[in-house]
Amino acid sequence: MNRQIKVYIGDVKKLVGTLFFNASGNRESSGFEYSSEWIESSKSFEIDPELPLGYGRLFRSKKEWRSVFHGAIADSEPDGWARQVILRASGKDRKEKKDRGISIVDDPLTSLDFLLSVDDFSRIGALRFQDENGEFQREAGKGRTAPPLIELDSLLHATRAVETDTETAADLEYLRGRGTSLGGLRPKCTVIDQDGSLSIGKFPSVRDSYSVTKGEVLALRVAAAAGIQAAEARIVESDGASIALIKRFDRGLRGERIPYLSAATLLGIEDSYQVHTYTEIVDALKRYSPDYRADAEELWRRIALTILITNVDDHMRNHGFLYVAKNQWRLSPAFDINPFPDKRKVLKTWIAESVGDAASIQSLMDVAPYFGIAPRRACEILSTVEGAVDRWRQIGKDIGMKASELNAFETAFEHEERLSARRIIGLMKK
Ligand SMILES: Nc1ncnc2c1ncn2[C@@H]1O[C@H](COP(=O)(O)OP(=O)(O)OP(=O)(O)O)[C@@H](O)[C@H]1O
Ligand SMILES: [Mg+2]
Repeated sequence: MNRQIKVYIGDVKKLVGTLFFNASGNRESSGFEYSSEWIESSKSFEIDPELPLGYGRLFRSKKEWRSVFHGAIADSEPDGWARQVILRASGKDRKEKKDRGISIVDDPLTSLDFLLSVDDFSRIGALRFQDENGEFQREAGKGRTAPPLIELDSLLHATRAVETDTETAADLEYLRGRGTSLGGLRPKCTVIDQDGSLSIGKFPSVRDSYSVTKGEVLALRVAAAAGIQAAEARIVESDGASIALIKRFDRGLRGERIPYLSAATLLGIEDSYQVHTYTEIVDALKRYSPDYRADAEELWRRIALTILITNVDDHMRNHGFLYVAKNQWRLSPAFDINPFPDKRKVLKTWIAESVGDAASIQSLMDVAPYFGIAPRRACEILSTVEGAVDRWRQIGKDIGMKASELNAFETAFEHEERLSARRIIGLMKK
């Protein structure tokens, strides 16, 4: 199978290039070629550091541990939750056709099928994919856009049904597009908030043993109180369930699309099993950020928060960048930060190679110079972050968390590293 997909960027539909896709049995490969229109445009930029601007096709093959697509494209591929929804919908659709005696090709879905199943309206970042028939994927092919907030109830029910293996074809039909615009493992969908802004609804999972959704909103609020630029979030109750509603940062005030890359893509990380470090992100910031000092300081602040709230799922796809101009990228607002109670205090992204996986405030202080931060300034930042984390119970109450719900997070917020932070702040003040 050979396919050619046109790749556009943003709302004005600038043709960036062509995505080539080849599948034969289990073997898949892809290629990308910039259009001359894009190469010659004064506004053009590399959509991915692995795709330098220039003529000719750049190939890529699938490996067990990496997508068949270049990182910038793969960043908008469905995974985890979304793949589950797409697979089940396709399975039900095929079965129904078979039952009606319609002959079908029962080939497994290819990586391209998954990529193109994502709704065009809500696809992450600014890249858009047009198939050979001139179609951009629309929610369940019906040309509808993301649902409004009042549909949260229905979305919740359909999501629950998928999680408990009780979904109907109608549930899947309904969820497709809505449930499949973003990566990540947890159940989620796209919704339009009352003010018209594109948002993510993250649902409780039937497997949760505490309120994960409230925990995430709490973490994002504590982050904001710590001076971190964090995604805007609030809790919305729907049919007895607490849904985290998180505003999309890859859309501008008028809904315009802003190019997005995960840290994994900007850093050229392919193998998610290998260990990577925050100091590597600092090196990338040096190269790509128009305000390196501010971004490096922001990153350091985020690591301090990560340690103090036990946000131990800090992998390289939970950090991202938004495009500014002239091939420059800045840290996106912080997202997917969660207090994990009763988890070992180790980081997925190490502070630095010499530190290992320890989530240690002292080690973070030691590497501050690498981030361009003087010891006194580091102490000031730490003091702000620790001050915000210290108010976690109050911040939790402000978003409507009950004492019992807050207690479930106790071990994430109250631990040895908090004491270490206070010791360091106290020593510096003397
Ligand atoms: N506020 C946001 N604005 C734009 N894109 C976002 C936002 N939050 C998350 N994303 C994108 O959606 C993806 C999935 O979201 P998120 O990481 O919150 O989900 P998750 O299921 O909790 O992920 P994980 O598998 O890491 O637990 C992210 O990797 C990022 O690309
Ligand atoms: Mg994530």
